Amino acid sequence: MATDIQSIITQMTLEEKAALCTGASAWTTTPVERLDVPELIMSDGPHGVRRMPNVHAMALESLPATCFPTASCLASTWDVDLIGELGQALAEECIALNVDVLLGPGVNMKRSPLGGRNFEYFSEDPYLAGELAANFINGVQGKGVGTSLKHYAANNQEFERFSINAEVDERTLREIYLPAFEKAVKQAQPWTVMCSYNKVNGTFASEHHYLLNEILKDEWGFEGLVVSDWGAVRDRVAALKGGLDLEMPGPQERRVQAVVEAVRSGQLDEAVLDESVRRILRIIFKAKETPKQGEFDVDAHHQLASKIAAEGMVLLKNNGLLPLKGQQQIAVIGRSAENAHFQGGGSSHINPTKVAVPFKELQTRAEDAEFTYAEGYPTDSSFRQDMIDQAVSVAQAADVALLYIALPTFKESEGYDRPDIDLTEQQIALIKAVAQVQPQTVVVLNNGAPVAMSAWIGDVAAVLESWMMGQGGGSAIADILFGRANPCGKLAETFPLKLADTPAHINWPGEAGRVRYGEGLFIGYRYYDAKKMPVLFPFGYGLSYTTFAYSNAKTSAQTFKDADGVTVTVDVTNTGDVAGKEIVQVYVHDQQSTLVRPQKELKGFAKVELQPGETKTISIPLDFRAFAYYHPKYKAWITEAGEFDILIAASAADIRQILTVTLESTLKLPCILDKESTIREWLADPRGQAVFGPAYAQMEAEARKMFGGGDERYGTDGTIGMDIMEMFNEMPLVSVLMFQQHALPMHPEDMVEGFLKQVHSMDA
Ligand code: BGC
Repeated sequence: MATDIQSIITQMTLEEKAALCTGASAWTTTPVERLDVPELIMSDGPHGVRRMPNVHAMALESLPATCFPTASCLASTWDVDLIGELGQALAEECIALNVDVLLGPGVNMKRSPLGGRNFEYFSEDPYLAGELAANFINGVQGKGVGTSLKHYAANNQEFERFSINAEVDERTLREIYLPAFEKAVKQAQPWTVMCSYNKVNGTFASEHHYLLNEILKDEWGFEGLVVSDWGAVRDRVAALKGGLDLEMPGPQERRVQAVVEAVRSGQLDEAVLDESVRRILRIIFKAKETPKQGEFDVDAHHQLASKIAAEGMVLLKNNGLLPLKGQQQIAVIGRSAENAHFQGGGSSHINPTKVAVPFKELQTRAEDAEFTYAEGYPTDSSFRQDMIDQAVSVAQAADVALLYIALPTFKESEGYDRPDIDLTEQQIALIKAVAQVQPQTVVVLNNGAPVAMSAWIGDVAAVLESWMMGQGGGSAIADILFGRANPCGKLAETFPLKLADTPAHINWPGEAGRVRYGEGLFIGYRYYDAKKMPVLFPFGYGLSYTTFAYSNAKTSAQTFKDADGVTVTVDVTNTGDVAGKEIVQVYVHDQQSTLVRPQKELKGFAKVELQPGETKTISIPLDFRAFAYYHPKYKAWITEAGEFDILIAASAADIRQILTVTLESTLKLPCILDKESTIREWLADPRGQAVFGPAYAQMEAEARKMFGGGDERYGTDGTIGMDIMEMFNEMPLVSVLMFQQHALPMHPEDMVEGFLKQVHSMDA
């Protein structure tokens, strides 16, 4: 029988309500025993279950659970079904470990490759991140376990992460930093959303009425509860008013008391508190519908972790050496071959059930080969020529050198940003020295975010990006190197040539408490496109052991209404000798728009598996939002009628086919002309044109007479040597009229007032 939440609220005392809205311990909410309200148990997340032995306390080591690959690797799979499967496995572990809500996924945008937590986030593209997050959440929640979509919002760096004020304009928020949250909320209704630590445009995310109440709850229809990031609340009462339902962790007696007093003094409406209580109770009782019991299948989940790792690893370079074919002497170099580097530091750190050791996995797949090993680099930042010399000597004596290079944790973790995108000095010197004596060198990277490679990539035969690959990653690497798995991951973020090229470079990481998102919409490939700048590896890029041809691209209509959208189909053929998977990407380019737009934006994708010679037709629907942009003056997503190019691509830099379609806008937009509107804006609006057009024609004629002479609109041979009308076009109508006051029948301000009345009374 469904729990009668309203009746529980009616019976709760003010103190009990206030207490429910702040945690009782490190990982639990406050139970109300007399009313049979149990505690809700939460655990990190996101890529494994970090269940503490005692849920009421912080601890360093959690119970064993499967450590799946971190989000950079997950995103590179571009495989929504697989992410759903991962979600189900995570839920099974939550059920076995007695966890009600898993604290993930994280969908913040990778604004800069320096972000310390980039390994925990999916992408630089909001569409891709949103799709993956929605599938992750549906996977977990389909089994009756909750998720926490985090960290809402504009939490894109670790520098001063508890306090920094992220200054982001409205359009950039709506088009870049919010859509992944929006998509996940609308498509998957996470049970909880976790607000971030930082401020957004001057207000703490934990108190942000606009972000929490207006956008998340009212506009997107979020039904769950908003939980604070651990320790993100400064003012409990302001946070409740702002829409933050649950403060974590607890206990925080003083905060609870503040809420009680605020209600008693009338500073806080009890209805606001009740609403948060209702949201929290709904989730608690929903969670308790899933009994927490049993065990999870350790081996099956380990296998799944390996499978996901193999799907997410990205083959960046291959001169034909891979897959390995019968090499007898194999030199394995690099300490990460023996000590797998498979996850990042911080709150997402999982105590794995077991770990596939990369070196051992190689050995079991090539029993006839002879292996040698050199550690290659130390755990710290010291430079050790002796280790390089030893590596060179084993590399020299072998048929092939496999260099396992892991970015050390002191360079990449939660809590601080990276100072650069470089490997260590030792690692760079090691790769160069080995490649010099052994042209058959493969570099296998473990890192959570892009590293620079220009210093050495030209010297090596192949590079495999294997990310923070999770506990099964060691076997995935071996499968790929020996061709038992065909690499099929593609980058979910651009790899830049150098740090100075990156979009946020001159606005990073901010100072004096604020960081300005000065690059606006232009992060990731949107930036490199706009700057026409070369990159090391573009967004969406990844190699395979086979090749794919695209043909027969079509759209379901040539002309379509924005509300209906349009569907793209394309045939993809495996033109090589081995089975493989291709990730097809669809980008949209608006040929002409009133506001500036990125050159192209990802609006659809599909991963398809093909046997040699096989062809499949894939179909990708594009909806209203695929063509729309957020207009800050309308405060709405709008479309503009006209031509759009649909780019069918193998990566952001490898466009295979382009189709042009015509969009008919069905929107009836209100008139946004106001006293400050320029003449250009008046003329661009059909209502403005109707009302002011005739007067403009007269003005133009006058101007010609005065400044230009003859038939020339351009007065270059006239009195002031400039195009006077172009200058007027950029001025507010009222200001232009001010100069012509003497010739007008009434005061310019009254005149504009009259025009405005007319345009605002007209229908769109
Ligand atoms: C992190 C969250 C995490 C929470 C609980 C915070 O410091 O930012 O991602 O879920 O701690 O461990």
